[in-house]
Amino acid sequence: MAQPILVTGATGNTGRHVVEGLLAEGVPVRALTRDPQRAGLPDGVEVVGGDVTRPDDVAAAAKGTAAAYLVWPGTDEAAEGAAEVVAALGEHVDRIVYLSAADAEQGGVWGGVERAVRASVREWTFLRVTGLAVNALTWSDQVHRGVVRSPFGGATRSLVHELDVAEVAVRALVDDGHAGRAYLVTGPEQISQADQVRVIGEVIGVPARWEEQPLDEARTELAEAVGADFADQIIDHWSENLDVPEPVSEDVPRVLGRPGLTFREWVRDHAAAFTPGS
Ligand SMILES: NC(=O)c1ccc[n+]([C@@H]2O[C@H](COP(=O)([O-])OP(=O)(O)OC[C@H]3O[C@@H](n4cnc5c(N)ncnc54)[C@H](OP(=O)(O)O)[C@@H]3O)[C@@H](O)[C@H]2O)c1
Repeated sequence: MAQPILVTGATGNTGRHVVEGLLAEGVPVRALTRDPQRAGLPDGVEVVGGDVTRPDDVAAAAKGTAAAYLVWPGTDEAAEGAAEVVAALGEHVDRIVYLSAADAEQGGVWGGVERAVRASVREWTFLRVTGLAVNALTWSDQVHRGVVRSPFGGATRSLVHELDVAEVAVRALVDDGHAGRAYLVTGPEQISQADQVRVIGEVIGVPARWEEQPLDEARTELAEAVGADFADQIIDHWSENLDVPEPVSEDVPRVLGRPGLTFREWVRDHAAAFTPGS
């Protein structure tokens, strides 16, 4: 039997689809999770317990695997601990596909992890995502009430469906020809935050609209949710996207041989989460 591929973040937004995509390709999968009892992964997956931030856990999980999908949790700009973890991974696998961000070249946690990956394996592929459409799920309670209050309604993004990210990851894990590539992974369109809310309302058949939230109030709420430093990074990013929309890249259609999924398609796939009473 072929060597398995290690999937970290296997219970997360993209990781679950990477697991399914690899199984569909007939590739054995080993999944690393902190809580195997609650992982809820498909039959046939070898589920191992451990924390991706601990080098020993990662080394044990990577033993005998051919390649790894790496999701690094946290937003700490220094990417503390990533170099040790990635080095442990690199002792076992020749190929790492890392879920990064479009801002990686400006540094942040993603720049730090990318550097560690380049230093540790021969074959790396970076999936530099502008924004995951799943971020919109944080609005679901407000959509139920018909109004989403947040700042920068005009900030224009190129959100990508997590299925497209996962499919690109599977191609890069399984096929040759993706090593040394940093793909800019985006959706197929630019859409403002206010329009995202309008589209959600249209798809679920319950009108929803944007209401501009005062910036100080939004900063306080965000800081409570993700910490003050990352809240500032998010706010700076949205503010930039008022004048400079996030780019739309051709990398997803080039790798997959089909157009990327639109935000409207993403909402259809998650309509239940936005539908009151569901
Ligand atoms: N959201 C965006 O727009 C965006 C944009 C660019 C880049 N990214 C990057 O994409 C990655 C995934 O983001 P996501 O929000 O979609 O997360 P996610 O993949 O849904 O969840 C994170 C996964 O990491 C695992 N994990 C392991 N150790 C963890 C720890 N100490 N704390 C938290 N989780 C831990 C969890 O698995 P277990 O609980 O099973 O262990 C969980 O399945 C992140 O690196 C993020 O920086 C996100």
